[in-house]
Amino acid sequence: MKIKHSLYSRRQFLNGLIGGWVGAVAAIFISPILKFVTPAYKEPDDVTLPLADYKDMAPNTVKVFPWGAKPGFLRLQADGTYLALVGVCSHLDCNVAWQPDKKKFFCACHEGWYDENGKNIAGPPPKPLRKLQVAIDGDTIVVSKPAVA
Ligand code: FES
Repeated sequence: MKIKHSLYSRRQFLNGLIGGWVGAVAAIFISPILKFVTPAYKEPDDVTLPLADYKDMAPNTVKVFPWGAKPGFLRLQADGTYLALVGVCSHLDCNVAWQPDKKKFFCACHEGWYDENGKNIAGPPPKPLRKLQVAIDGDTIVVSKPAVA
């Protein structure tokens, strides 16, 4: 069946198609800039965790804690101190995951690997995972951003 009357002329249709394509390409380039200028979440200055939830960890094990909207990792080191890391990949900000069988952190976005201390060891990540300060205060663990020098 042939349609006698079209809602759009051929010129209007092609203009709309090209306009949509230009808009999509512009959005692809502009959205990362807007995301950088106005981050979707504000990173906390510190978080307080109950010590009771973490004091029974075996040495060299890792537990996840909420670092704002992102994951944080708390690792009990062999000397009994805690190491805290932000679980955000240094490549393109994907969340990383602890792989207990390999004793490494893994970023599935581009197969980036970090060792148990957060040092980048394989794949595209250019820097280690960010470290946080850890302090024990009574019955709480206070994890905070490192002081800026
Ligand atoms: S974002 Fe993690 S490897 Fe690319």
